[in-house]
Amino acid sequence: MGKIKRIGVLTSGGDAPGMNAAIRGVTRTALYYGMKVTGIRYGYHGMIHNDLVEMKANSVSNILARGGTILKTARSKEFMEAEGRKLAYENLKAAEIDAVVVIGGDGSLTGARVFCDEYYDIPFVGIPGTIDNDIYGTDYTIGYDTALNTVVEAVDKIRDTAGSHNRLFFIEVMGRDAGFIALSSGIACGAEAILIPEVHGQVSNLKEYLQKDFKRNKSSNIVIVAEGNESGGAFAIAESVKDDFTDFDVRVSVLGHIQRGGTPSAHDRVVAGKLGFAAVEALMDDQKSVMVGYHNNEIDQVPFRKVIKLKKKVDPDHLQMVEILSI
Ligand code: F6P
Repeated sequence: MGKIKRIGVLTSGGDAPGMNAAIRGVTRTALYYGMKVTGIRYGYHGMIHNDLVEMKANSVSNILARGGTILKTARSKEFMEAEGRKLAYENLKAAEIDAVVVIGGDGSLTGARVFCDEYYDIPFVGIPGTIDNDIYGTDYTIGYDTALNTVVEAVDKIRDTAGSHNRLFFIEVMGRDAGFIALSSGIACGAEAILIPEVHGQVSNLKEYLQKDFKRNKSSNIVIVAEGNESGGAFAIAESVKDDFTDFDVRVSVLGHIQRGGTPSAHDRVVAGKLGFAAVEALMDDQKSVMVGYHNNEIDQVPFRKVIKLKKKVDPDHLQMVEILSI
């Protein structure tokens, strides 16, 4: 056995379907290799407040199909302060935790990086977990595929009623300041337009687009709006369109937190299991301050430094494709 005797594992930030499969992957891999595992509940909050639980092989039984996270999660303001991180470090030391696996998004991995810059002797490895898929260095984040399928199912249903009434629907999806969920769900559902945070001035184009006669002859129009879009969300856009195009029967639907829940898809479970396994192997190989990610079907390690500094890009060319496909 290597020098790591006990691994801590936590989920942090917004929960995402598939996080449980990652917890299971980390726990069982570490136990298999003779290490002990401590679950840190409520993310960094639990690290600061000593909310720890011993993880055995059966602690992670029957959780693959469950959404959410059995370890709970939180966004910790205290961990952003040096004093909070010091307390967290002292607690890790007292609990004899030699290494930590953090499952979470951008903010959670940023926290891990800051911590590792201050305290060198407890290595952290990250696993990308967020429905937003907005993390540099990985093609997939855990939860994205499930959220996407939830959106697609909801939009398909809305399309049925939109088509029956000849309505124009604005459907708002999550993603914070990134447009990955909007873009992919829009393609999957044949949206007539997609508004994303990464592209500016889209609302005026949208009006132009709605003016085209042939669009008005469609039995339904679906516009997917990413919540971080500059124009202020689906309700604001719907209001402005209502005034300019009184002949459209406009409705709005904000999908909200249903996008974060539900049974994880097979894809999310596979990605999560493999990344959980890879995270423990990375620690055994003396890696630290890296995220394990998925790149071209291979598992890769990306330094936190890059993950945090670089921004994953959407491909705006897809927007033109969406327009062409929706004529
Ligand atoms: O990051 C995941 C996410 O669901 C975003 O898409 C969304 O903007 C945010 O979290 C919502 O956060 P909260 O859990 O605070 O409502």
